[in-house]
Amino acid sequence: MKILILHGPNLNLLGTREPDVYGSMTLDDINEKLIALGKELGAEVACLQSNHEGALIDALHDARTWASGVVFNPGGYTHTSVALRDAVSAIQIPVIEVHLSNVYAREEFRHTSLISAVCKGKISGLGWKSYALALRALVDE
Ligand code: DQA
Repeated sequence: MKILILHGPNLNLLGTREPDVYGSMTLDDINEKLIALGKELGAEVACLQSNHEGALIDALHDARTWASGVVFNPGGYTHTSVALRDAVSAIQIPVIEVHLSNVYAREEFRHTSLISAVCKGKISGLGWKSYALALRALVDE
């Protein structure tokens, strides 16, 4: 089983980006933990980050040819992108939306997700464990 971990815009800056909100782990730290967890669960984990909407759409399209599921943190595009929603909706594999922070405890514009309704589920507010729980759920599918 192969799972794509897909990180959206600004997540490359984790570690130094608003650590009070997003914690001190870097993106590499998170990816390492998820790859190790994947090994434990018998799944191959591939990680990708992009700051570009089109590149994220391409990665979702590509994932349908090789992945069993996607753990997706769309970052700020969560709240704005019809195109990413359409991409998630277009592919036949389960996608779980994740967020490091609890988006519902933050500004009101973060309470709306254009992506959630077309996802299998959503996990928000548990730091890197949001990704870990989503990975476990996809492996359990
Ligand atoms: C985020 C939450 C979004 O609102 C924000 O724009 C991000 C990160 C999170 O992981 O908590 O970039 O997706």
